Amino acid sequence: MSTPHNAAQPGDIAKTVLMPGDPLRAKYIAETYLENPVKFNTVRNMFGYTGTYKGHKVSVMGSGMGMPSIGIYSYELYKFYDVENIIRIGSAGAYTDTLELYDLVLAESAWSESTFALAQAGKSGDIQYPSDSLNDVLENAAQKLNKHLTKARIHSSDVFYHEDNVDDHNDFYQKHGCVCVEMESFALFHNASILGKKAACLLTISDSLVTHAGASAEERQTSFNNMMEVALEATIQ
Ligand code: ADE
Repeated sequence: MSTPHNAAQPGDIAKTVLMPGDPLRAKYIAETYLENPVKFNTVRNMFGYTGTYKGHKVSVMGSGMGMPSIGIYSYELYKFYDVENIIRIGSAGAYTDTLELYDLVLAESAWSESTFALAQAGKSGDIQYPSDSLNDVLENAAQKLNKHLTKARIHSSDVFYHEDNVDDHNDFYQKHGCVCVEMESFALFHNASILGKKAACLLTISDSLVTHAGASAEERQTSFNNMMEVALEATIQ
């Protein structure tokens, strides 16, 4: 059995999947951190791999950008491949100068203007939540590795490039309490919720909408490694 978007066979994918947005990040993680990685998907170049980390089976697969994309891949992983846990690992833009470049943020909730949950399951409401138990595991992993996590509400936006009249990041921060913006977690958390599965999201601040600072490619890689190590540590707890 495969799906229109995933060539994996049942059993090819671990119970826990780490999902970066970029499939080349999935490749990097598999090749850098996993023992005996086996590629299970190349459909649309959305690479997925399963290997072991310190002896524990784990998979890593790209999600693509935005809620429609992570909505498809995460739904299939949960529903057709018996995946129990998805940990999104991504980047985010800061809405407040209390967050610095490369800070790690653990999503406590995701606020969104998206209609994903309404369209997918007739659910209204603009906040979705991750799994408390998965968040606890990620927090413990970060503590063990001596990495600081900011736990906060994030904004899952449908739009990267805004016209000036609507790009008021202050509103998202002041009115909705979102400290940073990414584009996927609201849909991921919704899918986990309707399918009785677990999801979490760990983010690295890669740019700031307040100071307009941005990370170089090399700095992004180093900070990404930090986040990766926390997520991998969480898979073996
Ligand atoms: N991911 C990283 N930076 C972002 C931004 N500024 N907006 C949306 N998603 C992002």
